[in-house]
Amino acid sequence: MANPFEDGRDGGGVLDPAANPFRPGMGRIPPDFGGRDEALLRAKVVVDQLGALVAPEFVLYRGVRGVGKTALLAYVRQRAHDADLLTIHLEADRDDASLEVARETILRDAAPLLDGLDKKLGRTLAAVQVAGTGVRLRDKGPPGATFESLIADVATLAGRTARGVLLTVDEVHEAGDLMLKPLLRAAHRAAQDELPFGVLLSGLPNAAENLFVEGQTYTERLARVDLGLLDRRGTADAIDRPFARVADCHVDELVVDAVHDGSGGYPWFVQLWGEALWDLATDPDRIELPVARAAGARVQLRVHDFYEGRWRRVPTGRATLLVVALAEQGGEAGMGELLEAIEVTHQAASPARRSLLDLGLCWSPTRGRLAFSVPGFASWILRTRPDRN
Ligand SMILES: Nc1ncnc2c1ncn2[C@@H]1O[C@H](COP(=O)(O)OP(=O)(O)O)[C@@H](O)[C@H]1O
Ligand SMILES: [Mg+2]
Repeated sequence: MANPFEDGRDGGGVLDPAANPFRPGMGRIPPDFGGRDEALLRAKVVVDQLGALVAPEFVLYRGVRGVGKTALLAYVRQRAHDADLLTIHLEADRDDASLEVARETILRDAAPLLDGLDKKLGRTLAAVQVAGTGVRLRDKGPPGATFESLIADVATLAGRTARGVLLTVDEVHEAGDLMLKPLLRAAHRAAQDELPFGVLLSGLPNAAENLFVEGQTYTERLARVDLGLLDRRGTADAIDRPFARVADCHVDELVVDAVHDGSGGYPWFVQLWGEALWDLATDPDRIELPVARAAGARVQLRVHDFYEGRWRRVPTGRATLLVVALAEQGGEAGMGELLEAIEVTHQAASPARRSLLDLGLCWSPTRGRLAFSVPGFASWILRTRPDRN
């Protein structure tokens, strides 16, 4: 075998693999966000307003797994950081205890706001106590209440130090009301006081829906932005732009068609395609159909591994039966239909259903319905029938 260190060859393509800009993988910022103009614009307005010390609107990004929620939040945080805002990031968790983790994270990340804090202001804070050179929470009362006053303190400090603060919270569906209610209440009050405190949230398509249904006041300031699959234009932008910018290389329309058809506009798969096209390029100036064919074969393997990895996480027994039945119903169905198909009572299937939700393999679009949380899983199961192996 050739040694790429010795002969300078590295892989099959003509483009430098080390310069490959595509970023397949959960949470990785793509070289270009295709089809996210509205989502990005919302975030930019928030960042600009915080920079100008104006209280912004709050935004909730929603979509299934792999559409780019985490990447979007990470990107906006970078931009906020560049604009000299203070950023705080939380990842919501299912446990009660995690509110404690959240509080610690906020306390740590907000520390720069407390630098050289004057004593008088320090005493007005509800949750934060400045003791000597350190800071800590005044009392470890009920998690929700302390959390709420902590957010309020951070917003107050943002105002007093004239530094905009952006808080991002990923996977908010995990924490549910426990975190969201106190968070949004405090943020809403901060906005009424014109404090430069911004909140960007993300979660599954039905995240926080109950708060809107309940008509909570603080939802007035919370904009919902749904992130779906990319349309052809979005796929084209996500593929063409990195090639043009990084390698001054043109991607043929037919190749974009192939990527769009092959990926279904699923952002995660679009990145896989981009990565493969780059690695397999045969002409540094153009990507043409034969390269797309080779890339397609490679992507297919990766996609198969991706689905297979998810399949392996399905618990055996009733959960497997449920998953197969769900695949047969096209990937989304009512629990009633599923239970009929597998001939199990509601009660008996409940733990299996719960485990699929907890593992993030499924989500519940509305009460009593179940759906896979990644596109294409149903057809992969029907094609490969992994339950029969
Ligand atoms: N608008 C987009 N265009 C192209 N690729 C994207 C876009 N948004 C995200 N991606 C890519 O999709 C993949 C999944 O993104 P991620 O943020 O983990 O999704 P989610 O948090 O919604 O599960 C990553 O590889 C990311 O680079
Ligand atoms: Mg994510």
